[in-house]
Amino acid sequence: MQACLSFLISLSLSLSHFSCIPIQLALQWWQGFKAAICFQFQLLFISLCLFTFSSSLKMGETCSSGDECDSGLLCNTCPVNGNTRPRCTRIQPISPTSKVKGLPFNRYSWLTTHNSFARSGERSETGSFLLTPTNQEDTVTTQLNNGVRGLMLDMYDFQNDIWLCHSFGGQCLNVTSFKPAINVLKEVEKFMGANPEEIVTIFIEDYVMSPQRLRKVFNASGLDKYWFPVSRMPLKGGDWPTVDDMVKQNQRLLVFSSTQSKEASDGIAYQWRYVLESQYGNEGMKPGSCLNRPESPSMDTATISLILLNYFSTNPNKTAVCYDNSASLISMMNTCHQAAGKRWPNFIAVDFYQRSDGGGAPEAVDVANGHLTCGCNNIAYCKGNTTGVCDNPPVSPPPPAALESPVDAGDSDGAHSNGRTVEISWLLGTILTVTLFLRFN
Ligand SMILES: *[C@@H]1O[C@H](CO)[C@@H](O)[C@H](O)[C@H]1NC(C)=O
Ligand SMILES: *[C@@H]1O[C@H](CO)[C@@H](O)[C@H](O)[C@H]1NC(C)=O
Ligand SMILES: *[C@@H]1O[C@H](CO)[C@@H](O)[C@H](O)[C@H]1NC(C)=O
Ligand SMILES: *[C@@H]1O[C@H](CO)[C@@H](O)[C@H](O)[C@H]1NC(C)=O
Repeated sequence: MQACLSFLISLSLSLSHFSCIPIQLALQWWQGFKAAICFQFQLLFISLCLFTFSSSLKMGETCSSGDECDSGLLCNTCPVNGNTRPRCTRIQPISPTSKVKGLPFNRYSWLTTHNSFARSGERSETGSFLLTPTNQEDTVTTQLNNGVRGLMLDMYDFQNDIWLCHSFGGQCLNVTSFKPAINVLKEVEKFMGANPEEIVTIFIEDYVMSPQRLRKVFNASGLDKYWFPVSRMPLKGGDWPTVDDMVKQNQRLLVFSSTQSKEASDGIAYQWRYVLESQYGNEGMKPGSCLNRPESPSMDTATISLILLNYFSTNPNKTAVCYDNSASLISMMNTCHQAAGKRWPNFIAVDFYQRSDGGGAPEAVDVANGHLTCGCNNIAYCKGNTTGVCDNPPVSPPPPAALESPVDAGDSDGAHSNGRTVEISWLLGTILTVTLFLRFN
């Protein structure tokens, strides 16, 4: 866009220098004509700039950089499953509450990041380098802006504070510690302040020993004002309050701890009283089987109304994850739907949520939301909250997965840009014709 603007400015300048200076001895009508042409050209180039700026690539289209893709998409390949053609892939789910409003909280599904804080390329805030796996590639703020609404955070006593950390032999060390928890909680607080209709859920893998310390950090971050009280969480399989109610009462933050005693000491809900959770790691990725993690009641427990699907490998693998986050994630979601008594997951937790071969984890969330909110196969097809009335769009054939031979790839790229050039020329011609017609008719 910048390049486009500066081009526009220089073009205007050159037009005014060379074409728009009144030519001595020119007749009055000729001057008017020149000015008009000049104006038309500026209009034309403004339109052209707007056109090229707003025209970006859709999901699945061949790209060479992320900038070319529509917002909410990233340019990616997935060589592990043969997708070598760089294509625009999704990193944002559809906001389910903007599409189908006002349902109970348990009628929605949310994209969730496993170890949201463990970002590749970071150093420990102790100053140390990190010797520990990472699970995501962007900050919690960016995740929230991309529509992530579930955060999984591992919290430890460390350096007289509470830190987001991985353990080595049960201990948080400098080389496995990312940052003080309050730093990330403040990011959440800022997001929730700026987005007063959004609901965020935090799952704490809780290694904090002393009571009330954890809650104190939440209080210090300013998140206390959004706290959803444990007393309002249903225990008999009933519906949760509606999202509208949660927004109206400003009880928009759900926090769950993996330590049972925190419910009494800190007012932090014990996760597995309220949420059923599938097995994590490699054990949770065996096709056709959806078991609960050992701490959770079994997946078909009817008295618990929220369901969390974990789908990430024991050792996070940036190369393999795009495969995991694609068709195989949706297939596991279907398996877990069966295992959970035909219930769809409310939270879908993955590593490297931005990686996939196309729709990825955002699409899995949209599918779950379609079923949960309106009974359609995807929330994109819902027509309001009317159950079973679906707006099934015509499906266009998928583009080829792989780049063909390098020569062919060059050709097909060429064909692609030719198509675009033709479009632009067509547009240019049309605008010119129409403006001239309007002006001089
Ligand atoms: C469906 O939406 C309408 C209008 O927004 C609302 O009045 C109604 O309560 C909703 N139905 C359900 C089941 O929530
Ligand atoms: C860990 O980091 C802290 C803070 O930077 C430092 O004071 C301490 O010496 C480090 N410990 C080790 C074992 O390196
Ligand atoms: C946190 O804030 C809540 C509400 O303001 C208060 O009831 C609670 O005592 C505070 N907890 C701690 C540990 O500071
Ligand atoms: C990551 O996955 C790729 C592709 O499946 C595999 O070849 C590689 O060995 C894996 N790396 C690790 C460290 O497991």
